[in-house]
Amino acid sequence: MFCQAKGRGGGTSSSVYNVRQAIPAFQAPLTRQQVFDLAGRDDVESRLITQNGKDWKMEHGPLAKLPPLKQKEWTMLVQGVNLYDDAADALLREFRFIPDARLDDLMISYASDGGGVGPHFDSYDVFLLQAHGQRRWRISAQKDLSLVDGMPLKILKNFKPAEEFVLEPGDMLYLPPHYAHDGVAIGECMTYSIGFRAPAFQELGEAFLQFMADSIDLPGRYADPGLEPAKHSAELPEQLLTRVADEINKMRFTDDDITIFLGEYLSEPKATTYFDPVDKPLTPARFVQAANKRGIRLSRKTRMLYRGKHLFINGESFAVGRADKALLTVLADERQLDKTALAKASKDVLEAFHNWYQDGWLELA
Ligand code: SIN
Ligand code: CO
Repeated sequence: MFCQAKGRGGGTSSSVYNVRQAIPAFQAPLTRQQVFDLAGRDDVESRLITQNGKDWKMEHGPLAKLPPLKQKEWTMLVQGVNLYDDAADALLREFRFIPDARLDDLMISYASDGGGVGPHFDSYDVFLLQAHGQRRWRISAQKDLSLVDGMPLKILKNFKPAEEFVLEPGDMLYLPPHYAHDGVAIGECMTYSIGFRAPAFQELGEAFLQFMADSIDLPGRYADPGLEPAKHSAELPEQLLTRVADEINKMRFTDDDITIFLGEYLSEPKATTYFDPVDKPLTPARFVQAANKRGIRLSRKTRMLYRGKHLFINGESFAVGRADKALLTVLADERQLDKTALAKASKDVLEAFHNWYQDGWLELA
């Protein structure tokens, strides 16, 4: 898909890429109206941003009414479009040269002439693919990331652009986390942001300790049978400290703990993602019959990862045997199984598939 890595943004950093015609003759898979319709839904995250000089306003969706198209300097953003549209999902999956564990979502912005979200930085890696019309990007590797106080969105206080690119449909700009940027529509335009999570170690560390709290096992209780009368009643006793330190130091984090934590954490769908359980689910026997004819595929919303014997799906983990693992890793990589592959599924796996089908995690192809 990507070709001609022309015009690497030189000067400030080696990690910014401006790829002309990354997708030659690119046709936006969603029309303007389809994007507007998504913004009007209450199960889809959207925002409307309007600018009036130095003043910015932000309204959260559902957005029933948008400003007139002729009005300048407004933009509307729809998050997670890949969760609701097959073509958007297919486009996002073109980026699977980056592991799924890093994948965030596809956001689409529509902007009227002069519209944008202001100079800011993001906390993830992002590919900014121009889908329709033109957008002028100004970018900077500046270290000063201080923000204007009291704004409803992140606006850099001292944005000092170092480079500038005008992107046409099919052109793409890659920016690493914390890279200052500002994209302004030249005429009406649509931009697709393909985002990749770059979790902060602090966030991972805190979540890991919470995860470990559920599995820690420290039996026993403190006692001090030979206790002498205290000389300094308020002082923490040495014996208490040593004894508790001995117990706390028994806690060990294994690589398996970290693997299971990461798999569950990174396969957890966003809090705003809701699955649609099937209305009238087939019985297990009928489901297997239908699956053996038609095959199955993961729902667009399902996040599935694996590592060694561990399989992760939508925040849950399973330890799987060698035979089941072969099939389940194909499902995770291909996101579908045809009837030939399904013929090898064990009873346990078919039972899990039926449960996942009822929950809307996978569907009949
Ligand atoms: C936009 O598409 O207007 C905003 C994308 C971004 O700056 O991350
Ligand atoms: Co941004």
